[in-house]
Amino acid sequence: MATPLRHAPLQMQPPVLIDRDAIARRVAELGAEIDRDYAGQSVLLAGVLKGAAIFLSDLARAITIECTFDFVAVSSYGKGTRSSGAVKMLKDLDHPIEDRNIILVEDILDTGLTLSFLKRTLMQHHPRSLRVAALLDKPERRMASVKAEYVGFTIPNHFVIGYGMDYAERFRNLPDICVFPPEAAD
Ligand code: PRP
Repeated sequence: MATPLRHAPLQMQPPVLIDRDAIARRVAELGAEIDRDYAGQSVLLAGVLKGAAIFLSDLARAITIECTFDFVAVSSYGKGTRSSGAVKMLKDLDHPIEDRNIILVEDILDTGLTLSFLKRTLMQHHPRSLRVAALLDKPERRMASVKAEYVGFTIPNHFVIGYGMDYAERFRNLPDICVFPPEAAD
């Protein structure tokens, strides 16, 4: 069992950074872009647990070309420890990816260490193509040189929760993307 969950309610509504309508509009645009880029082909959406689960489920429904999905999980050390670059695969994809069009789906591209590890690892299995869809991009924090071909929103260096993203596993179910702690938005 990881960190015990704390169930105290939030004292106030955290400030909304990107509301649900803006998210829905942007996800629809990304889906349309993917439809155009892969017209006549199929894609495998590879979601990175757990933060990307909600984005992947909406993005998949915004795509009309043939599309399947799968998930990976990587070790989640504290961000401090993660900056050592040590990322480990906890759950691999269920199916082979050789000669498939893969889109790695992330909620947030931060230091880039997770995605650079995943891209390197998946490339060893010879996909036909490998691209990244990240709902949020925080370029200020980048340590590894990695880019997402599909970016929902570029944001400043705030800690964000909601729409899949957590603080100590809480708040993933908030429909809007909010800044946490609330004072950080001032
Ligand atoms: C978050 C996010 C990415 C990673 C990005 O995951 O979902 O996977 O951090 O950070 P990086 O660019 O600095 O590597 P987290 O470890 O918080 O786990 P979670 O998805 O289960 O919330």
